[in-house]
Amino acid sequence: MKENLKFKNGKFKMMLVGDPHEKAADETEREQAIIRDYLRLQNAALDAIRPDLVIFMGDNAGGNTPEELRKSIERIVAPVKERNIPLAVVFGNHDLEKKMGAQKEHIDIYNEYENCRFTNASPFVSEDGDYNLFIYDEENKNPLYNLWFLYSGNRAPKEYHSKYAFVKDEQIVWYEDACKKIAEQNGGKVLPALLFQHIPVPEEYRLLKETTPLSMLFDGVVGLNGKKGKYFALDRKNTDVEGYMGEAPCTPDYNNGQFDSWKKMGDVKGAFFGHDHLNDFVGTVDGIVLGQCKLSGFRQYGDGLMQGVRVVELDTSDLSKFHTYMRYYRELVGTDCDSIQGSLKWLRDRQSVKLETSLKALGVAAAVAAPFVLAKALRRKK
Ligand SMILES: [Fe+2]
Ligand SMILES: [Fe+2]
Repeated sequence: MKENLKFKNGKFKMMLVGDPHEKAADETEREQAIIRDYLRLQNAALDAIRPDLVIFMGDNAGGNTPEELRKSIERIVAPVKERNIPLAVVFGNHDLEKKMGAQKEHIDIYNEYENCRFTNASPFVSEDGDYNLFIYDEENKNPLYNLWFLYSGNRAPKEYHSKYAFVKDEQIVWYEDACKKIAEQNGGKVLPALLFQHIPVPEEYRLLKETTPLSMLFDGVVGLNGKKGKYFALDRKNTDVEGYMGEAPCTPDYNNGQFDSWKKMGDVKGAFFGHDHLNDFVGTVDGIVLGQCKLSGFRQYGDGLMQGVRVVELDTSDLSKFHTYMRYYRELVGTDCDSIQGSLKWLRDRQSVKLETSLKALGVAAAVAAPFVLAKALRRKK
């Protein structure tokens, strides 16, 4: 039997690891460098944050053979295992792709780590491998808080006209049933909860405003999938959104009602997602905080040394709220990085580059135009 997660001195701290995208490949110098940098970030983050729970947010690890799968999972688990920290995992769209191994194979390998709570420590588990974990009071008597972990699938069935999938109707039914049972055990009151899944819900777009192609020079991003041809930026004026958006949220184009289900049940205070490697914005929609975790690995596209992990802190003095923030490679490790070199090392994020390029282009245009303007003014004087 696994030990319960517990509040300590009224606090509970989680570290969210977004999209490690780990593979077994380690033959070349480049692959060695990528692995070194990932482990540098994880070791520094774990030592600085000292979390009570680590959560892998999906697109975690895979391989073309069972041996490769084991090798890549063991690699990302190692820093957590060394420190004996409890670990929870959700699957991303890439984890269960063809050849990447079946769901059971993944879960079995993760669960070989004594402190992993992947479904086998959960009071409620769905057929899709969704589960929950309670956080108990310090006396280990009563659960005070609940954590949901859901699998958001890969590609959507054709009839939904959406590239990416979403949790299925059965999963929503499972969540609502489990939520009611938890409330029954809690004197009729729902337990406050956070929810973790890989693919974000479409309601993230309510933190954005539609903008123009010109905004691409500054903070705008171009829409994806069903939103192709549109442009978006974070709506900092009309919402409480903060953080960074380097690419359009890659949500499903079909709304399955998952967010409305959270609103109906009233337990979910915040939901966290991976999938979008450049985004780390957080904002509130209808009283529920939606938060992105940026990429933490170095095998995929990212923002130089701004790869990082997200922290979520709970405090028993007020469990209706929580505190969340990002910790980046640049601040945790510094510029000692082998897989990112040259100017990329100094990249703060893509928007700062776009802004800098725009300002430089404006400067060049001004320098080119200046002699003509001056000559014209002189001619007029004569
Ligand atoms: Fe990913
Ligand atoms: Fe993904």
